[in-house]
Amino acid sequence: MNKGREDLASEDSLSEASKLVSNLGTRIRYQVYYLEKCGSTQDVARELAEKGAQEGIVVVAEEQENGRGRLGRRWFSGRGGLWFTVVLKPQPDALGLLSLGVGVAVGRVLRGLGLSAGLKWPNDVLVDRRKAGGILVEGFTVPGDGIVALVGVGLNVNNELPPGLAEVSVALREVVGARLSRLQLFLKLLREIDNVYLQLIEGRGEVILEEWRRLSVTLGKTVKIITADGEYIGVAVDVGSLGELYIDIGDGIRAFYAGDVVHVR
Ligand code: BTN
Repeated sequence: MNKGREDLASEDSLSEASKLVSNLGTRIRYQVYYLEKCGSTQDVARELAEKGAQEGIVVVAEEQENGRGRLGRRWFSGRGGLWFTVVLKPQPDALGLLSLGVGVAVGRVLRGLGLSAGLKWPNDVLVDRRKAGGILVEGFTVPGDGIVALVGVGLNVNNELPPGLAEVSVALREVVGARLSRLQLFLKLLREIDNVYLQLIEGRGEVILEEWRRLSVTLGKTVKIITADGEYIGVAVDVGSLGELYIDIGDGIRAFYAGDVVHVR
């Protein structure tokens, strides 16, 4: 077994995380809010943030009944997966790259386990070319408290996938051939999110972008992008400091800030 995976081989309880986060030595002062079940960790985190929760609150749930993905899509979140939201309070200039940055953090952790992780713009985490996870960053302002970013991470770990999703999605258990400790994975992810966040707030966004480019499975591909104002086909050439994707659509390079990307070839 890959060395990094050894400590991930046994299942242990996610609820233990509340005690262990303080030993991570992170700059973010994580506090874990553990739930057996909720609608969406994003909503619980938002409620806590609206009531003045500190940066670093992490809502993690064994199961979400109403998990959501980008563009309001349903996110299947059965038992055995890792579903959590971190409350952060970034300066506005660190916000643009937060979503790509958290993708980099997840990519680092999965690569550290010897998995062939890649990032598909804007926020899909692929393993062996299938979707193993996704990131959802929702921002809002709390009067007197500035910007709040709800950083949601969903990772298929030991959970079953609904039949219709099994062709395009994958759980890490299937790739590794064994169940993984979600607790150890969770702690590794929190540590890496902290590292990336520090790089962003110190103005080292270019380092994160460079790493995203290396992990990217989108750049260099011919893609179709579906946006609110139409569909475009072209070659994905780069990403920018607001997380935007640049596509050469034939008559020039155009920046896209939102949309759904399909890899054509
Ligand atoms: C996507 O790929 O569209 C993003 C998926 C994000 C899912 C996570 S699971 C934890 C958090 N709570 C949610 O309801 N969504 C995010």
